[in-house]
Amino acid sequence: MSSAKLKNNGGISKPFTPHATAKVPTIKNQTSSFEIPILGFGSGTAWYGANEGERKTNLKNSVKMAVKCGVHHIDCAEMYNNQEVVGDAIKEILNENNDLQREHLFVTSKIAQGSRNPNDVISSVHKTIADLNVGYLDLLLIHSPFGKPCPLIDTWKAMERLVDDGFVRHIGVSNHRIQDLQEILNSSKHRPVMNQVECHPALPQLKLKQFCEANDIIMASYGNLLPITRKPKECDPLNKTLTNIASKKKSINEGHLLLRWQLSNHRVAITTTSKESRLSEYLKSVEDGNNITGDDIENNALIDQSMGGTYFRAFWEKQYNGLIE
Ligand SMILES: NC(=O)c1ccc[n+]([C@@H]2O[C@H](COP(=O)([O-])OP(=O)(O)OC[C@H]3O[C@@H](n4cnc5c(N)ncnc54)[C@H](OP(=O)(O)O)[C@@H]3O)[C@@H](O)[C@H]2O)c1
Repeated sequence: MSSAKLKNNGGISKPFTPHATAKVPTIKNQTSSFEIPILGFGSGTAWYGANEGERKTNLKNSVKMAVKCGVHHIDCAEMYNNQEVVGDAIKEILNENNDLQREHLFVTSKIAQGSRNPNDVISSVHKTIADLNVGYLDLLLIHSPFGKPCPLIDTWKAMERLVDDGFVRHIGVSNHRIQDLQEILNSSKHRPVMNQVECHPALPQLKLKQFCEANDIIMASYGNLLPITRKPKECDPLNKTLTNIASKKKSINEGHLLLRWQLSNHRVAITTTSKESRLSEYLKSVEDGNNITGDDIENNALIDQSMGGTYFRAFWEKQYNGLIE
């Protein structure tokens, strides 16, 4: 394969086209051409703050493993400070698989708070695209609305320019509250297609989801597995319910139930793992795509009741300042 395939292409983006080896179904919104695989492989959290050696080997190998297993949606961010490593993985993936082209991968990145001023948005996204070796981004998000480096809409207008110039296909947000989304919707030319937020049965974000649905914004969730991985005391009743449901069926475990809870509620799940065996487990959860089965309905009802209206938030807790939507 020629290295030209990997060069920044000067602003010519192509629609995401699922490859025959992709194992993850997609979801579309109603009013634009936005289409995204319902499971994404995260390059943050678990890899954040790891020492450089670990980052270079573990993260690179894990991204390659995810794509090899059929997870072609990769979630990145400027803030993770590791985009060159993900870019090395992408370069190797495309070089080693003649059949796989750039447009078969769905690549998201997020603008860090420190790059939200309009001039910084343009230069930071160009650096992101070069670091990731992708030529363009499928999805660009504002990582968070918190702090006030400039009005959100100024950041948004710069992102719209990147869409118009072909460097980014779709734009959206992360960790945005209803008030933030409203601020953008009031003056946007290109509407946000996605809001990526912490979400799990201990933080279902129902009001926010309702607002997103009414405005054709797909919700993506991170922290999907934290009730069972971090085991906060607040999640004890939920975890008891998950174990109880899982004990009645051989083919499912608690992680499977948490991912099905997301996908059957039409949310995109962003998760990660360093282990191929665990990724295969995750892939079992997407077998039914985002179709809701009878089992999902039964399980979700038990899961939804389990927290009895109490909430637990692990990420950006200080910034949300107790707000539950
Ligand atoms: N927008 C934002 O502000 C934001 C914030 C946080 C995260 N994210 C994105 O979301 C991605 C996913 O992060 P997350 O924190 O939400 O991950 P998660 O899906 O909640 O959990 C994944 C982690 O849990 C471990 N794990 C999975 N199953 C387990 C089990 N049964 N027992 C013990 N450990 C288990 C995995 O480790 P192994 O390697 O051992 O499998 C992996 O480190 C991030 O990489 C990032 O891209 C975005």
